[in-house]
Amino acid sequence: VPVLKLKLDRRSQTPLFEQLRGSISQAVDSGAIKPGERLPSVAALSKGLHVTQSTVLRAFEDLGKAGYLDSKIGRGTFVRRPESQGQDSNNNNKGANRESLDPDFILAARRMRMGVAKSLESLQVLGQRPGMIAFTAGTPDPSIATEGILARLAREAFKSDQSEYQGYGHNMGLTQLRESVARRYDPSGKKITAENVLITSGSQQAVSLLAQYSLEQKLRIICEVPCYMGIPNAFGAIGHWVESVTRDKDGPVLERLNRFRDGHRSLFYLCPEMHNPMGTDLSAERLAGILEWSRSQDGLIVADEIFRELRFEGPARPSMLELTDIERTVVIGSLSKVFMCGLRIGWLIGSATLVRTLVGLKRAMDITCPPLMQGLAVALLNSGSFDEHLERAREHYRVRRDAMLDALKRHMPPGVTWTVPKGGFHLWVELPAGYSSITLYLLGVEKGVVIAPGPQMDIDHRFVSGFRLSYGSVEVKKISEGVELLASAVKKLLASPPDDPGLSGLGNFV
Ligand SMILES: Cc1ncc(COP(=O)(O)O)c(C=O)c1O
Repeated sequence: VPVLKLKLDRRSQTPLFEQLRGSISQAVDSGAIKPGERLPSVAALSKGLHVTQSTVLRAFEDLGKAGYLDSKIGRGTFVRRPESQGQDSNNNNKGANRESLDPDFILAARRMRMGVAKSLESLQVLGQRPGMIAFTAGTPDPSIATEGILARLAREAFKSDQSEYQGYGHNMGLTQLRESVARRYDPSGKKITAENVLITSGSQQAVSLLAQYSLEQKLRIICEVPCYMGIPNAFGAIGHWVESVTRDKDGPVLERLNRFRDGHRSLFYLCPEMHNPMGTDLSAERLAGILEWSRSQDGLIVADEIFRELRFEGPARPSMLELTDIERTVVIGSLSKVFMCGLRIGWLIGSATLVRTLVGLKRAMDITCPPLMQGLAVALLNSGSFDEHLERAREHYRVRRDAMLDALKRHMPPGVTWTVPKGGFHLWVELPAGYSSITLYLLGVEKGVVIAPGPQMDIDHRFVSGFRLSYGSVEVKKISEGVELLASAVKKLLASPPDDPGLSGLGNFV
């Protein structure tokens, strides 16, 4: 039996179970052991190779998870070929199904991701010194909310019937709030009703609920990148391996998404409008490709529409809910960007069946969102105050966006390009190829201006030559001043040859 002739190196740093596991998988890959062959028993192998039975068991366990072995009780352990190897080698599907990969690989890769993320986070401390012009905040400008608005909403919310707040209320959220949210997506009430809406603690909690659901349903998780990292982090926090699909200004690159066509059901997260961090909208061609992928693969689309009501230019776009089958779509949204993060009112809209499943998970997590906060949200949405607030907010951010575009045009040297957002808080800048936004971050901090480097917004910390600028929370005068300082840092950076000609970003935005 070839397995009994394996050579294990007792002086090597690699543990014996790993050596055994590697030798068996190599033997299968090379054809030295054929699928269907029966392996010697654990006791026989342990004896023949002079290792403990637990060494053999550990190797068998890993090989079983990776799809190399099948244990049949009472009959023995049989060799098989892992699924991905049996498929057409042209389908470009390698690595698509990480469940079949070595668990040690997943662990090592997760550790590496977390390690790099921590190092990048430690950079942020430098930018928190007083007096900095920070183009980094993703929160609304406090000056937009009218004075005393919370007190007014509280008077309205609590004026008559306090019994509503005595108990927990409906686990899905207050009916009036769910109805108001549903109406904002579908005024006709034909497709979306209160039954499709789950009120959550910010849209962040909606993602955590989806992460739990996906674990139970064994969904593969795919995120477009760059993205708001709270999303992949919510999936990663409970042990998901998150696959990434890179995007450019038009949206996720379809060739990257189409790697995931192997019959394994996936959840795909994207931010279709006024993207964080790129500021752009999904193109019609990319949308069509994503919808086709979702139909043919039964993929669940999670569309983050958190900036939906902050469009200050061009016609409103349909919500993803209007474009797809609700059985394969979830939309998340919240009052955080359009009004106040502090209310922690968010929502998830999906099929009534999915919502009922997620309610069970939410009940186990925190029973319901605080009804007091929901009461304020009902008062806001049901009065005219919200639409007035939105009108003011859109104009406010449009002026700031224009100030930033104008300053970039005036001060940035040739070779630097940027996106032009039609709403939201953010835009994306690209340095000439080979220059690093992390070096620029450090040069910027020296001059008193802070940016968000591209690698902070990718699961694998790529997009080194790009960075995000957020204009939402910076006064017009400071925007102009800050961009001028940043441009002087960019000129200093470009005065030397590129850090690494191999560095890449997300393309040219001229
Ligand atoms: C694109 C995007 N989605 C979701 C969130 C989470 O927001 P919240 O939980 O406050 O609704 C954020 C926050 O920055 C975000 O930028």
